[in-house]
Amino acid sequence: MNEERLDILLVDDQNEDLLAHEAILAPLGQRIYKAKGGCEALRLVLERDFAAILLDVQMPGMDGFETADAIRAREKSRLTPILFLTGMRFANPDVFRGYTSGAVDYLVKPVDPEILRSKVDVFTRLARQRRELERVNAALADANRRLASTNQDLDAFSRRVSHDLQGPIAVIDGFARIVAEEGKDSLGPTNLEYLGVMRKAAARMGELVRDLLQLSRVTHGELAWTEVDLAEMALPILLELRRSSPGRVVETTVASRLPVRADAKLVKIALENLIGNAWKYTSKRERSKIEVGREPDGRGQTVFFVRDDGIGFDPRKTERMFQPFERFHSADEYPGTGVGLATVQRIVERHGGRIWARSAPGEGATFYFTLESEG
Ligand SMILES: Nc1ncnc2c1ncn2[C@@H]1O[C@H](COP(=O)(O)OP(=O)(O)O)[C@@H](O)[C@H]1O
Ligand SMILES: [Mg+2]
Repeated sequence: MNEERLDILLVDDQNEDLLAHEAILAPLGQRIYKAKGGCEALRLVLERDFAAILLDVQMPGMDGFETADAIRAREKSRLTPILFLTGMRFANPDVFRGYTSGAVDYLVKPVDPEILRSKVDVFTRLARQRRELERVNAALADANRRLASTNQDLDAFSRRVSHDLQGPIAVIDGFARIVAEEGKDSLGPTNLEYLGVMRKAAARMGELVRDLLQLSRVTHGELAWTEVDLAEMALPILLELRRSSPGRVVETTVASRLPVRADAKLVKIALENLIGNAWKYTSKRERSKIEVGREPDGRGQTVFFVRDDGIGFDPRKTERMFQPFERFHSADEYPGTGVGLATVQRIVERHGGRIWARSAPGEGATFYFTLESEG
């Protein structure tokens, strides 16, 4: 690997020591700077970012400790590793105990060349790792910032568009209806059929716009945390579905209590979507079963689920399913916009939970999610 050379600073008032230490460190292949005293050292520290500093303790004028304090006082060199080189007089760990921030070590002079070299080698390795980490972090922060602003733009855009489209769609539908009514004797069957197609298209567009608006709404605003019983919430949703398709035979099982801490409005939207899907994707069966419940995940957490015995889906599609507009069943057989699961995922994730699904074609589907369980 072609590693970039790092800068190492040697500070000593004795010229022979400077030269001796430089010679010892030469095999490491780093760039070595020398300073004859504290002031000169500080000047160099202002100019560049050293990977390690070797500091003689006993120097006339500014001694090693004072120099270290000055180096540490500067934000950029606050964590630069310092290796004190000291005579026997200061060879006591207590002396260095005050330097708790960042890497500090000491060696007694005259130094053992092997030990000096390996200590400096460790320090420079650490410096290299820290720099690499800083680079990665900066790149990550930058990517995050860009992503956040793109998401914001996108959200604002879709909210605006959805909102502004609702009016015109209602106008198209309204006038198509009026024309159909007024002309029901004069227009003839073909024209009436065309008007019917127009109204269907307008209704479809209205649905898309409504779902998109809902998708963008669930990402905004503070969460209003309260205690919510998912079981209590599921019952009226199922009742409403029963009322909307009275011909169906669906056996429903809902756990007696499913208490969580969550935003009630958002969780209701999530349950409506999951239970709505279970209802929809079992509609081709003569009799079907839907279950809403919970189970332990084996790691002390509670996992909630909505299970059905409908047509199921190809498990390879699980990942994509949670993306907006991804649909795996035909719109003729199963109407929908493909925005539902994306909405559910956003809601669950905003609560700090996870959602996933398990299925096989023809074998029903189970959607699992976690929320803050309340016992
Ligand atoms: N309970 C389910 N059983 C089988 N497939 C499902 C189920 N729920 C969702 N899917 C599949 O995931 C797709 C995305 O679901 P969703 O986002 O709710 O959109 P929509 O219900 O409008 O189709 C559906 O089109 C369907 O193919
Ligand atoms: Mg749906």
